[in-house]
Amino acid sequence: MSKINAPRGTADTLPQESWKWQAVERIARQAATLYHFGEIRTPIFEATELFARGVGEETDIVSKEMYTWEDRARAQSEKAQSLTLRPESTAGVVRAYIEHKLGETGQLQKLYYIGPQFRRERPQRGRYRQFWQIGAEVIGPQSSGAESPLRDAEVLEMLASLLNELGIRDWKLELNSVGSAEDRVRYNAALRDALQPVKHLLCEDNQRRADTNPLRVLDSKDEADQDLINALPKIADYLGPESGAHFAQVLAALDACEVPYNLNPRLVRGLDYYTRTTFEFTVTTGLGTQNALLGGGRYDGLSEMLGGPKAPGIGFAIGEDRLILTLQAQAEADSISTASPFTAAKLDAYIAPLGLAQNSAALALARDLRAAGLTVEVGDGTFKLRKSFDTADALARHIILLGEDEAATNILTVKTFATGEQKKVKRAKLAEALA
Ligand code: HAM
Repeated sequence: MSKINAPRGTADTLPQESWKWQAVERIARQAATLYHFGEIRTPIFEATELFARGVGEETDIVSKEMYTWEDRARAQSEKAQSLTLRPESTAGVVRAYIEHKLGETGQLQKLYYIGPQFRRERPQRGRYRQFWQIGAEVIGPQSSGAESPLRDAEVLEMLASLLNELGIRDWKLELNSVGSAEDRVRYNAALRDALQPVKHLLCEDNQRRADTNPLRVLDSKDEADQDLINALPKIADYLGPESGAHFAQVLAALDACEVPYNLNPRLVRGLDYYTRTTFEFTVTTGLGTQNALLGGGRYDGLSEMLGGPKAPGIGFAIGEDRLILTLQAQAEADSISTASPFTAAKLDAYIAPLGLAQNSAALALARDLRAAGLTVEVGDGTFKLRKSFDTADALARHIILLGEDEAATNILTVKTFATGEQKKVKRAKLAEALA
């Protein structure tokens, strides 16, 4: 029989790796709590139209990368519907905001999520077809302050603090404002004009974008087109007074919080819902060309595009796979095994029953130690002593030997690997001795 592998661009996360994901998620959840975010869990698939309308028909994500299928009706009461594995979560979160009328609470909604996303991209290091995001959205009616530049700066400051706490070094915040919908009408017109005389020199994709959605030309990675793209008009020159003032206040709050940033006029991002502030955090270690660790921005018109009430918002999504790759590459560069959140914890103890007759007693001892809060693994009475010691040394800080004598006297032999010390400990004092 031929063997079956995981689909291209997907991966299994085995226990040797998954603890790192747990460590990162624990820190992210703590940060979310500190900043008053609550968790939202939305479906992994949604109506295709949600992404077509929200993310935009002309984006690479919607035009090339979605996993879409026609879901047939199973009963007379059902309709066939086109469904899509979510390529991102912002559209789903805003759909949920509308569906549950969260705006009617009048309160600012601060929502975070951790989960898989799906894009049919060409896989490479840091780019997969199923990948994980840790994301957050701040959204609410205008009266809740959702539109305030303070919110933009709070999200950016939170990200800077989170990356610092995770130990990510040398991150860069790239920042831009893509203006309001009205600013963009003027900017798009200017881009179209500027593109007209040079359009024929661009690659095929960019020629099409020049007509359909000229903003998309700016995030083109096509090498040959870069000089022409760099010479195009800059959005900063087309911001109206309101967008300009909003952006200036974001920058002032970042300065007050001492968050460093680089202004990048070409950062328009690959999704159509953005207005005003857009950003990415990039890193130099570990990711190669896929150097964006996370991205986000403001989307003041998205709720209306999805048929909801006016609800300005801002959010981000961290590529969790990329975060882990970066932390790993940094740890390798340092060749230290003690890097804080990124160190595997050893078990407190490994119990070695000496002979089959001690298996039951070993399991009962393990139960007691675990009940006392210790992490414990149990060997097996058939193992040779050498094998028990080797396994224990790899897994745990201590080995507990449980033979006939130990069972009879309730005094156990404990060896501590770090010091090489071996001693006899009363069963009742064991938990204390291992702590
Ligand atoms: P995005 O820039 O498309 O934004 O994705 C955010 C991050 O997800 C990227 O910076 C990257 O780290 C990671 N990512 C994207 N595609 C892949 C992939 N194929 N493989 C591995 N990692 C990937 C969004 O998704 C927006 N929803 C962010 C947002 C939230 N904006 C406002 N709120």
